[in-house]
Amino acid sequence: MSKTHQIVLLPGDGIGPEVVDAAVLVMRAAADRFGFSLAFQTCPMGGAALRAGLPPLADETRQACLGADAALLGAVGDPEFDRAPRERKPETGLLALRKAMGVFANLRPAKVWPGLEHVGPLRPEKSAGVDLLIVRELTGGLYFGEPRGIEADGSSAVNTLRYSAAEIERIVVVGFEAARGRRRRLTSVDKANVLETSQLWRAVVDRVAPRYPDVALDHLLVDTCAMMLALDPKRFDVIVTENLFGDILSDEAGAVAGSLGMLPSACLGAGPGLYEPVHGSAPTIAGRDQANPIGAIGSGAMLLRHSLGRADAADAIERAIGEALAAGLRTADIAPAGQAPVAGSAMARAIAARVRAA
Ligand code: IPM
Ligand code: MN
Repeated sequence: MSKTHQIVLLPGDGIGPEVVDAAVLVMRAAADRFGFSLAFQTCPMGGAALRAGLPPLADETRQACLGADAALLGAVGDPEFDRAPRERKPETGLLALRKAMGVFANLRPAKVWPGLEHVGPLRPEKSAGVDLLIVRELTGGLYFGEPRGIEADGSSAVNTLRYSAAEIERIVVVGFEAARGRRRRLTSVDKANVLETSQLWRAVVDRVAPRYPDVALDHLLVDTCAMMLALDPKRFDVIVTENLFGDILSDEAGAVAGSLGMLPSACLGAGPGLYEPVHGSAPTIAGRDQANPIGAIGSGAMLLRHSLGRADAADAIERAIGEALAAGLRTADIAPAGQAPVAGSAMARAIAARVRAA
């Protein structure tokens, strides 16, 4: 018997707990089917931690994640803390966790699954076959730069956008490597017509590019990229970009894919990985079993692939998602008008059953 893999669960806020439950159900099914064992430990995170009188990232939670094989996060964010100071915001906990885990590379695949071509705002001939990957830099840029803050008298505020060449190079290499494993096209996205950080970014990309002669590289300005994602998403294979641009473009990719609820992600560095659906905490539908669990289930698949080396189980989960969709199951966010949606937990059970039958 192989060793038991240790996974930390961070359900967090809003729909986080229900989608994490869904992902665990499916990961357990995959572990049973493929003969490996998983041990789960749940830790408080974000608003859930704050409400328990803890900081948004408690020391025990950080230590548990650093000591595990991987962590799976549901969502953070709660309107209750919208006006709280930064150290008492759920999001601050997630940023601190990403930094502590050193997960600088955020892989956000977005594809239009067969049968979902009509769900999003694009005409089906534009959306059919979209299959792209956003590689988002995750531990640098505006989200972390110092100085930052709001003047005490409210007269001004500052954030700092800083990137070192080394930070840029390591994420660009992830982008090129990812492209090599796919259709060998890489689009680097920046704002080099205005920002010095982007000029450095572009220079580093061009310096790295000769090491990947088999990958076709182009540069796009972020505003143009936002437009092209809506006009012609099929032109994209891998997009590599900085933290803020990647955050924004990945929500747009969610719209292209039909629903943000569909998108999984993996946050990778040298140590354990952190896995999170791209969607937020969706407080207005929390607790009603309406949320689409596919983003979280897909994140579980990425966890098995990237942190546990179980490509077999990850492939089976991804196939099972496709089969459940092909069978016509639709949660509320992707159901066509007139079709009764299935509950999130029903979608999860349907996917788990298909994994067991794989
Ligand atoms: C995301 C989210 C987070 C981010 C928030 C919750 C801090 O929007 O993962 O895309 O901005 O990175
Ligand atoms: Mn986001």
